[in-house]
Amino acid sequence: MTTTGIRSVGGALDRVDALEKVTGRARYAYENSPRELVYAFPVQATVAKGEIVHVGVDAVLKQPGVIAAIWHGNAPRLAPSDDDELAVLQSRRVAYRGQYIAVVVAETPEDAREAAGMLRVEYAAEDHDVDMRPDHPRMYRPDHVNPNFQSDTQRGDPDAALTTAPVVVDHTYSTPAEHNNPMEPHATVALWDGDGLTLFDSTQGASALRSVIAPLFGMPPAQVRVIAPYIGGGFGSKIEVHPHVVLAALAAKQVGRPVKLAVTRQQMFAITGYRTPTVQRVRLGAETDGRLIAVTHDAFEQTSILVEFAEPTAIVTRMMYAAPHRRTTHRLVRLNVPTPTWMRAPGEAPGMFALESAMDELAIACGVDPVELRVRNEPAKDPDTGLPFSSRNLVACLREGARRFGWAGRDPEPGARRVGRTLLGTGVAASTYPTYRAPSSARVRAEPDGRFTVSIAAADIGTGARTVLTQIAADALDAPAGLVHVEVGDSALPWAVLAGGSMGTGSWGTAVVRACEALVAELGRRGGDVPPGGVEAAADTSQEVRGQAEFARHAFGAQFAEVGVDADTGETRVHRLLGVFAAGRIINPKTARSQFVGGMTMGLSMALMEESVMDREFGDYLNHDFAQYHVAAHADVRDIEAFWLEEEDPHLNPMGSKGIGEIGTVGTAAAVANAVHHATGVRIRDLPIRLDKLV
Ligand code: MOS
Repeated sequence: MTTTGIRSVGGALDRVDALEKVTGRARYAYENSPRELVYAFPVQATVAKGEIVHVGVDAVLKQPGVIAAIWHGNAPRLAPSDDDELAVLQSRRVAYRGQYIAVVVAETPEDAREAAGMLRVEYAAEDHDVDMRPDHPRMYRPDHVNPNFQSDTQRGDPDAALTTAPVVVDHTYSTPAEHNNPMEPHATVALWDGDGLTLFDSTQGASALRSVIAPLFGMPPAQVRVIAPYIGGGFGSKIEVHPHVVLAALAAKQVGRPVKLAVTRQQMFAITGYRTPTVQRVRLGAETDGRLIAVTHDAFEQTSILVEFAEPTAIVTRMMYAAPHRRTTHRLVRLNVPTPTWMRAPGEAPGMFALESAMDELAIACGVDPVELRVRNEPAKDPDTGLPFSSRNLVACLREGARRFGWAGRDPEPGARRVGRTLLGTGVAASTYPTYRAPSSARVRAEPDGRFTVSIAAADIGTGARTVLTQIAADALDAPAGLVHVEVGDSALPWAVLAGGSMGTGSWGTAVVRACEALVAELGRRGGDVPPGGVEAAADTSQEVRGQAEFARHAFGAQFAEVGVDADTGETRVHRLLGVFAAGRIINPKTARSQFVGGMTMGLSMALMEESVMDREFGDYLNHDFAQYHVAAHADVRDIEAFWLEEEDPHLNPMGSKGIGEIGTVGTAAAVANAVHHATGVRIRDLPIRLDKLV
């Protein structure tokens, strides 16, 4: 091979799938229409707890175009699963309002939807409990919090230390339930062919989905194929397999034709997950100069009757700041509510709202600048595990952010800057996200014409995964990116970890690099000769990833916000957000900037808007659409800037990269709330920051 000397990694390569997307050629799950296709529309429970005593299908079956009405009385039996949420139509029990209890299959989507509304269901309703509160008698300590952390940790004697600390901050913060709302709602097309099942699905992980679905239908994974080349966002809601996928497969099996099922935006509020509401008590004990002596963080949250999903809310407090005495706890209550799930920066986003708000309160209590307070509490090693950090550049992010934002000379006095009716304030918060890596596999093929094809069952959920893997492969092959084609989003490709935990690039990239290295070695043995059939090589990183040295691996950042609050109405506007991140090597500055800015926008949205409201009477979330569930729109985002520091870290992966998909969200809400306090003197400890809480 000749040496090009061209490096792709670090360059702002345009998205390799940009043309497909903007011309509409990129085909999403719902756009697949196999022959003989029919449509499914689910029926949802209208009670939050109870039993179905009768299902009347007569009127439904008389409707034009209706092929079947499937319910627990006539549904195919599924194999038992660890995930009770997936035992769809297997029982007369209702675990939450909105749960799927039947599905109507018809020739057109309109026929299916119309007929589904005619299903007669009688329930024996029971009293439901949807009330998440810290003193709930059924609060319990889960065995672990996601994905596999200890529920509680303790070092030293924080209670004793808090009784003697010169300065103590002790407050309770809360965050509401928040619903993932990717642009593309969930959708599945299920197609049985003999014993095989093909699913066109909007998923964050084709390999994972296959291995969950196959055993439900008593099949080996090889008999299921999941095709998901394009995904219109996921934000965590397309990690777990949700019941609609099972429903589509089950309906297709029952009627013997391919079935298309689109989850509506309204259904998403019950059926595809959300972030649990949290109540968090944070206690900080410090010397008068702000140096922490004790930190405790107790998190309370909910899960459903069907699934224990334990948001790891307090885990960030284990590693953020030095303090000899420390404790974190998680408590959970199982309620008659829909099942919560992963939502961008699960744990870190609500947890850092509480911790970084408390740090701001401590800064004020000690009369120390909030940037300086964080610098003073920088740990030399991970305070939880004692492991060295592979790299930790929080202080550099804070300093660089302060310089770019214009923090120097800030008057700490709250409520002291007013222009007309607008009160102005600035705030800062730290940010962090763990750097995970999971085993994956990849294959690469050299063609005689000099082109390469890289194959991996990765997922590009809109992040630019195809693009950065192209760059990573190009460098490993020492070839121009234009000669490298990357195929993803198909479980028939070499298995790979799902797109989650901000670990896609690190995990898939490692497998791609190893496969490319193997191919380069093979081509070397052949003297560079590529026969007409091409040359292939593959790699599996299971051993490499499991055998990696022990370090505390995390990305860090600093978030700065400037807000204006209307002194008369309390309306809050974020005038400016500025983030500086240290996240290893940035593979592509263009897609990376979008990740950071997108994450920060979600943080802004969390700070000011997002809130799912539980209707206690009916027992489900009463907002069901974008009219009632607000996310930040263009007009809400005035000025967001993301910067990053050059960070060399040899302990991560062959690219030297850290995950960047979620860190942008972490700390943002605290930076905004801290700025609101600076503007108004009002401390909002309960998100979102609504005007009625300010006036
Ligand atoms: Mo992220 S919530 O792990 O997609």
